[in-house]
Amino acid sequence: MTYHVMTLFPEMMDACLNESIIGRAVKAGHISLDLVNIREFADPGRKGRIDDYPFGGGAGMVMQAGPIDRAYESIRRGLDHDVRVIYVTPQGRVFDQAMAKELASEEDLVFLCGHYEGVDERILEKIVTDNVSIGDYVLTGGELPAMVMIDAISRNVPGVLTNAESGTEESFSDGLLEYPQYTRPADYQGMKVPEILLSGDHAKVAAWRREQSLMRTRQRRPDLLDKQKKACK
Ligand code: ADE
Repeated sequence: MTYHVMTLFPEMMDACLNESIIGRAVKAGHISLDLVNIREFADPGRKGRIDDYPFGGGAGMVMQAGPIDRAYESIRRGLDHDVRVIYVTPQGRVFDQAMAKELASEEDLVFLCGHYEGVDERILEKIVTDNVSIGDYVLTGGELPAMVMIDAISRNVPGVLTNAESGTEESFSDGLLEYPQYTRPADYQGMKVPEILLSGDHAKVAAWRREQSLMRTRQRRPDLLDKQKKACK
């Protein structure tokens, strides 16, 4: 999987995505990052400026179509197949685990990170296949949401997680939140680990964990259970 990211802040993404598990996956070649600096495609004579005043007036600046178009063309030239182009925007469909899994099967993905007050609508109409948001709040730019999505997608790319890391029982894998986890010591400041986890009875432990998952989901995210019920109907 190669992520091609059109951004004004490639250094910010480079610093974050070359650390920890994602950094390890890049080094191992399971995923790769192609960070494309939109500024390098600025109109001639604009000294790297890629924004301009909005037609019709109003506050803020708008990212121009041309530099984004040329940045995208530079990506396309290296590809011999169609590619999904994700515009990271609070106006998009809200990203979730199912989307992370689905996108993980793509060979290449293009992300467009917006900034300022917005992006010229014409380039969005021309190249974007998916408008995706990470939640109902507004951030100052698209880099953080793109990194959130890249992290969540990459966990589903084969080879990125070790067997030990890819616990199939994690939150959301079956539409439920994960059960509580404990490690040594068995007694921490008088707070004891549930007895059943020390019993060595695997079937009982599995049943207890399932029950905890259900309870936790009912308490903290009842909307997830409602969603499942609707899906079963
Ligand atoms: N850009 C600004 N806010 C955003 C959000 N919540 N999701 C995706 N992109 C954004």
